[in-house]
Amino acid sequence: MPTLVSTEPNTQRELHLAARMSKLGTETTFEVLNKARALERQGKKILHLEIGEPDFDTPSNIIEAAVQALHQGWTHYGPSAGLPDLRQTIAEEVSRSRGIPCASDEVVVVPGGKPIIFFSILALIDDGDEVIYPNPGFPIYESMINYVGGRAVPIRLREERDFRLDVNELASLITDRTRLVIINSPQNPTGGVLSRRDIHDIAEVIGDRNIMVLSDEIYSRLIFEGEHYSIMAIPGFKDRTILLDGFSKTYAMTGWRMGYGVMRADLAAHITRLMTNSNSCTASFTQVAGIEAMRGDQSSVEKMRSEFQRRRDVFVTGLNKIKGFSCRMPKGAFYVFPNIQKTGWKSKKLADALLEEAGIACLSGTAFGDFGEGYLRFSVANSLENLLQALDRIDTWTGSNV
Ligand SMILES: Cc1ncc(COP(=O)(O)O)c(C=O)c1O
Repeated sequence: MPTLVSTEPNTQRELHLAARMSKLGTETTFEVLNKARALERQGKKILHLEIGEPDFDTPSNIIEAAVQALHQGWTHYGPSAGLPDLRQTIAEEVSRSRGIPCASDEVVVVPGGKPIIFFSILALIDDGDEVIYPNPGFPIYESMINYVGGRAVPIRLREERDFRLDVNELASLITDRTRLVIINSPQNPTGGVLSRRDIHDIAEVIGDRNIMVLSDEIYSRLIFEGEHYSIMAIPGFKDRTILLDGFSKTYAMTGWRMGYGVMRADLAAHITRLMTNSNSCTASFTQVAGIEAMRGDQSSVEKMRSEFQRRRDVFVTGLNKIKGFSCRMPKGAFYVFPNIQKTGWKSKKLADALLEEAGIACLSGTAFGDFGEGYLRFSVANSLENLLQALDRIDTWTGSNV
């Protein structure tokens, strides 16, 4: 279960919260970040390896496009599904990169990748409907499935398979109540990447059942080995796939809040209604900058990717020299997910101790579900210098505690 938010009473009156709020989880990253900041205020030097965002600034051509858009008056409401030019740009980019024709009425622009998870589950899942989701995995899947009254069915990602899901296991989890299967490649938190063969096997196991697939491809441009392949490209799956991607990770735009979903046009219209009811639209000037991000110079994307790869190599090699740690080489995203079972520590206790005693902020594998026990997640979205210092500190700490 995701950690539940504590709600301390702060007035005389009892707060009558809707029952469903007890089912809503959270993302531990933000809690660890707050704790780390509190330690920093006490004068401690913390190395931040917890947060999942590029440490680079947004490329300057994108910033420039947003500034210009503000001056040109892109400061008003826009259409709920997104600006037509951006939807068209996304449709063209997805058609090219995924090798399947997409039209602009199949695109919905939303504030970040996350709302596509929120809206898809809200739109598709009724009480008792089953949703299969990766565990360890991005915690918002489980949180949202529980929130809407669905049945969260975890599929365990195993280290010995390089954290690629096992299709036989998937086959055994599918029932008549399965409405949605969530896949995520490259994966958070493990860095696992599904191969073309894996994706074909997943499609075969789902067969012609009326099951939707939420394919979270937010790290699609952050691949170090292999290729990115989308289930949307498999014949018969275009209509059953909701492709999630966005700008946060690819263009270092986490704070801009812009992402998108690509899906059959009738579902896109329903997701748009959810947008109208919640956000009205994604910020207009941000969307104009999004067009520049996709159409403009892509060299910064490759620069960031190769820098993450360099850091991954150094950090994983270093971790493998530390007592009790063993770490596979992740094939994508910017996370490493070492096995820490041989330290004799439980994940959460170890993450807490590393923060408090060694000044390393990282996440317990259990922040990503029960099957994350025995692992930690480190983000390598930090300078090489800081990563080397972190390795040093972990090594020193384990020297006297493991
Ligand atoms: C797997 C996965 N999906 C979706 C998101 C959400 O991305 P955004 O910040 O664009 O909402 C994240 C962010 O960490 C993620 O790791």
